[in-house]
Amino acid sequence: MTQFRQGCSLKLFPIFSVTSGMAASSTGHERRSRYAIVRVFVAGGSGTIGVPLVTALINAGHQVTALTRSSDKHKMLRMLGADPVVGDALDAATLRNVVEAAFPTHVIHQLTALPKDGVPRGSDLEATNRLRIVGTRNLLDAAIAAGVSRVIAGSFALMHGVDTHAPASLRAAAAAVESMESQVLDASNAGTIAGVVLRYGLLYGPGNPATVKLIEMIRKRRLPVIHGDRSLLPWIHITDAVSATLAALDGGPAGSVYNVVDNWPVSISNVVRVVAMYAGAKHPFVVPAWLPRLVTPFAASMMSIRLPVSNRKIRAELGWGPAFPTWRDGFAPIAQGLAR
Ligand SMILES: NC(=O)c1ccc[n+]([C@@H]2O[C@H](COP(=O)([O-])OP(=O)(O)OC[C@H]3O[C@@H](n4cnc5c(N)ncnc54)[C@H](OP(=O)(O)O)[C@@H]3O)[C@@H](O)[C@H]2O)c1
Repeated sequence: MTQFRQGCSLKLFPIFSVTSGMAASSTGHERRSRYAIVRVFVAGGSGTIGVPLVTALINAGHQVTALTRSSDKHKMLRMLGADPVVGDALDAATLRNVVEAAFPTHVIHQLTALPKDGVPRGSDLEATNRLRIVGTRNLLDAAIAAGVSRVIAGSFALMHGVDTHAPASLRAAAAAVESMESQVLDASNAGTIAGVVLRYGLLYGPGNPATVKLIEMIRKRRLPVIHGDRSLLPWIHITDAVSATLAALDGGPAGSVYNVVDNWPVSISNVVRVVAMYAGAKHPFVVPAWLPRLVTPFAASMMSIRLPVSNRKIRAELGWGPAFPTWRDGFAPIAQGLAR
């Protein structure tokens, strides 16, 4: 433990780097040990991914400041070991103050404002779109002003499968994701800050409200199997989204974009069929594709995306692999647990 600025105690962790050239040893290379100070500012530290992420960062020895809009969440964040700060990411001046006061070396962007148990309507995405466009701009500006070395942005892989035939609200959401990613990557390419984008698959995990609701709907036969379903959706267990984010903390070159997805994209109908089996539910109804498009056009459009993305790049460059290699591995214990 070392002291940095008055009153700030920092945790340090070793990084080994190999250097070559005039100063190298007689072997031509010198293995050198240095210490990197890792103080992480997590915007969205109180969220679905934020809480386990903050916990994992603390367990890995990092010092964490977590942003929330609500002082009610201070106690919970303190109990995790983080320093909580209150601020609205849409308020540029406040955000800049709280980021600068935290002296972070790294910023992680996990801001969304989605309904906790799923996104039934396109209008549910509007607040998140603002966060991805304006919130990202504010967070980047604050991070750059604070002298942060690296920013990691949590993005959403599925939005890259939205095409021109999708409803306007879904296209607006895809444009907001595009804005978030390009703001981070443009700043990185300009050399202002090192940026990494993580495109998460659909997040699921035990206790996650959207996961619980999905399984409940399947158990009550409210989600059908779609005849001839050709969708391919990427999924990721929350545990794996967290481990990938930790791997990206100092891994991978600036400007990298990684798909954080499991090994097996799958149609929504396959998920419905198999989860029904795990949950001990009756067989789901089978319906023609036009029916969900008529009744729930937004959800039907999102769930019919065909996006066969792979995790090959993050495996190769960051040595990361999912603990839950396929959605079946992750969903089985959750659905079976809820069935008891
Ligand atoms: N959920 C999914 O299926 C999914 C899929 C793919 C990617 N992702 C990505 O995962 C990340 C987080 O998702 P999540 O499911 O963990 O979200 P979440 O549970 O809804 O958490 C959202 C977080 O954002 C904070 N927040 C919202 N509006 C804010 C504002 N105006 N100012 C400051 N903080 C604000 C919330 O803090 P307070 O409420 O405490 O203020 C909370 O910590 C995002 O990067 C998202 O793109 C999610």
